[in-house]
Amino acid sequence: MTQGTALITGASSGIGAVYAERLARRGHDLILVARDFDRLKSLSNRLSGDHGVVVTPLIADLTSVADLERVIVKLREDAEISLLVNCAGIGPNGPLLGSDPDSLSKMVQLNVDVLHSLTATAAHTFAHRRNGAIINIASAVALMPERFNATYVATKAFVLALTQALSAELEPHGVRMQTVLPGFTRTEIFDRAGIDIGVIPADMMMDAGEMVDAALAGFDRGEVVTIPSLADSDLWEQHERTRRDLGPHLSLKHAAARYRPRGEMR
Ligand SMILES: NC(=O)c1ccc[n+]([C@@H]2O[C@H](COP(=O)([O-])OP(=O)(O)OC[C@H]3O[C@@H](n4cnc5c(N)ncnc54)[C@H](OP(=O)(O)O)[C@@H]3O)[C@@H](O)[C@H]2O)c1
Repeated sequence: MTQGTALITGASSGIGAVYAERLARRGHDLILVARDFDRLKSLSNRLSGDHGVVVTPLIADLTSVADLERVIVKLREDAEISLLVNCAGIGPNGPLLGSDPDSLSKMVQLNVDVLHSLTATAAHTFAHRRNGAIINIASAVALMPERFNATYVATKAFVLALTQALSAELEPHGVRMQTVLPGFTRTEIFDRAGIDIGVIPADMMMDAGEMVDAALAGFDRGEVVTIPSLADSDLWEQHERTRRDLGPHLSLKHAAARYRPRGEMR
């Protein structure tokens, strides 16, 4: 029995490839999106052979307008698709000041613009059908902006905010959203960025299989935000309570007293 079709971006390696394997195991047919034809083809053959599901490679450079449009049309028109997993992303090599501005813009294009377009398309399509789910891979650095390349953390903070906001909007339409905030995860992302993975402390690095299994466990529990490494879930709940407590104080008719000219009373 098929569980419906999952469209996974960035499925040729790392986290996306593990999602492909785990979702095939769960009985999902798959559409696998990435640029590397050979890898997608061999993964597709292996997964359809091992799990008896239909796996279709969809070769696309998501930073090409024409290729992105093909994926958007597929999302809109294939009524079997009920799950979108946004994994395609690129990481930085060092801080913003040492980075080529064009490569940072490319990162924003893939990590933000592309993810946003696909998420918005799936949101409209799934809400219309009153069925579906969207999983967006963010990063734990969304919560630690001072510790990492500024552009990268900002792209991941975007994914977190987009998912939280849209989750509330889509819930009444029967559509689920989840974002996953992995810490360091053993994939090719470091190699691609020219970073020696060996410089990262081993006790901070999770295997991709363990990370995705935890993320799917969080999905099954109905979590909107899943932080695979976080043992004490109360810490996240506190963080969210504090954030919500700010709500009534953030938009008022008058500025706070400390920002008013000296001596001005209200
Ligand atoms: N690994 C970590 O430590 C870590 C931690 C937190 C969050 N993340 C996030 O997890 C996601 C997956 O990363 P990963 O670690 O699995 O890295 P990865 O192994 O390098 O995988 C990246 C995937 O994105 C695809 N991709 C890159 N550019 C593309 C483009 N222009 N068009 C289409 N596909 C493209 C790649 O496939 P092709 O080259 O075949 O196109 C590949 O399948 C990213 O969003 C990353 O920011 C990773």
